[in-house]
Amino acid sequence: MIKTLSTYKELCSVVADIVEHTLTLPKPKLVLPTGSTPISLYKELVNRDLDWSTTTTFNLDEYVINPNHPQSYNSFMKKHLFDRVNIYPDNYHFPFRPTEAYEDKIKEIDLCILGIGTNGHIAFNEPGSTIDSRTRVVDLSEQTIRDNSRFFPTIDDVPKQAITMGLGTIMESKKIVLMANGEHKLNILNVAMNGEVTEDVPASILQNHKNVKVYYSD
Ligand code: GLP
Repeated sequence: MIKTLSTYKELCSVVADIVEHTLTLPKPKLVLPTGSTPISLYKELVNRDLDWSTTTTFNLDEYVINPNHPQSYNSFMKKHLFDRVNIYPDNYHFPFRPTEAYEDKIKEIDLCILGIGTNGHIAFNEPGSTIDSRTRVVDLSEQTIRDNSRFFPTIDDVPKQAITMGLGTIMESKKIVLMANGEHKLNILNVAMNGEVTEDVPASILQNHKNVKVYYSD
């Protein structure tokens, strides 16, 4: 289930090919991740100079934070992608508030791209998240706060809560691609893809999806 690529560059190029193909569909709908893993994917997509004018996107998650904070996922996405391609600002969405109206818009997703946390989380669905969960406010685990502290001046500056798309919502996507980079992800990736499907390892639920691809580079 896990396809290993020889370099991070190749990982990003393979996923960029999948995004490029998706953007040729009529009115494509994408779900997009943040984190360090997709940074070169977004760079590659910007370099390809694709047409984003009919595309709608939903980000997987956002901290409970001022949307204009430099470490908000809103700021991240603008910096790495949205301000650099021809997507309409009305067409990209963040879960700033977990409303039913927001959840209702996340339908008929053509492609959902995911990363994976070192504790097996996808988006901010921490261990224990239920398989039918929807967009909601969550408390971040200590491990996630530690892992993400590298982006903040001190660990105390890391938000303790986030809003995340749920596992149930993610699983309704027509196609899912999970990207993982670095040897520190290999163990959890193996547990998630080859072990038991359990809410203790949220990414393991992907084993139940009929169209999922998992790419890894070390
Ligand atoms: C964050 C995000 C996840 C992401 C994960 C891995 O916690 N909420 O969506 O997959 O980090 O990030 P990285 O790519 O930096 O390892």
